[in-house]
Amino acid sequence: MVSLTADMSPLHPDRNLALELVRATEAAAIRSVPFIGRGQKELADGAAVDAMRAFLTTVNFDGVIVIGEGEKDNAPMLFNGEHVGTGRGPQCDIAVDPIDGTSLTAEGRNNALSVLAVSDRGTMLDASSVFYMDKIVTGPEGVGVVDIRLPVGENIRLLAKALGKPVDEIIVSVLNRPRHAKLIEDIREAGAGTRLMSDGDVAGGINAARHNARTDMCIGIGGSPEGVATTCAITALGGHIQGRLWPRDDEEKQRGIDAGLKLDGYVYEADEMVKGKNTIFVATGVTNGELVAGVRRDGDFVYTESVVLRGASGTLRRISSEHLTSKWL
Ligand code: FBP
Repeated sequence: MVSLTADMSPLHPDRNLALELVRATEAAAIRSVPFIGRGQKELADGAAVDAMRAFLTTVNFDGVIVIGEGEKDNAPMLFNGEHVGTGRGPQCDIAVDPIDGTSLTAEGRNNALSVLAVSDRGTMLDASSVFYMDKIVTGPEGVGVVDIRLPVGENIRLLAKALGKPVDEIIVSVLNRPRHAKLIEDIREAGAGTRLMSDGDVAGGINAARHNARTDMCIGIGGSPEGVATTCAITALGGHIQGRLWPRDDEEKQRGIDAGLKLDGYVYEADEMVKGKNTIFVATGVTNGELVAGVRRDGDFVYTESVVLRGASGTLRRISSEHLTSKWL
């Protein structure tokens, strides 16, 4: 049962903060409008970062960016370790991805999102020293059923049984990358279908975890920051997520070890990537997707669609907003 008083303490990220944060992802999506489909992914990302940063300064919380745009030296904004917010209110860890799907945005293709994820201070895994993470995501039916250590065919059979549908109705989303050639072959050999994504495995993971979704599982190697941000959403959806860090070479592996990360196939369960249920995940559509519609400029108005997911209450809210174009663009 949902407790109505559980998050009354200002020490935790609460429901008001969740609604405040959506202003930052809306701003990032709106400011990326001039760059959608214009082939300039750096400019799109830069505009989204600037907008998100400007809005985060006004939010009443004491946030530390655990997963941001990189280290201080090569990212002037939203760098790892940076404090954002007014400094008043709950102490939080933050993962930002002003645009997950910068190439999708530049090409005008579906599924780009502006993403912010928040949890209590000290609860978010800083996995940024190892760029890639092998992940598996499903909805609640996969909890205690699928396991990233099992062959994919076995996971598909187990999930199909838990969902009460035949294997040939299972759809698995995977980033379309050469490194996934064998994985894609194995999924198809098991009798399931694939949904190949050109980018954007945050949206891919969330879509797989939602009830009545068109996909049942999202699997494969994508960004580790994206894995941690996705975990904040999966907590709210009651779904399953596990991750294994995937260093590209010995140097990166050593950086991971130095940062205290667990490697060599160690499986991070959801509660080790983000501890506790006080998670907030907000995302605004940059381009159209199954989760949310993309930002759209139409004359005097700009329209945005966002989702706000709260781990404490297990809620997914949709927020549709109309903004005056003259204030923004
Ligand atoms: P960015 O838009 O932030 O660059 O990320 C896009 C993305 O597709 C992520 O969704 C995914 O986790 C990662 O890149 C995969 O990395 P790669 O393109 O190197 O396979």
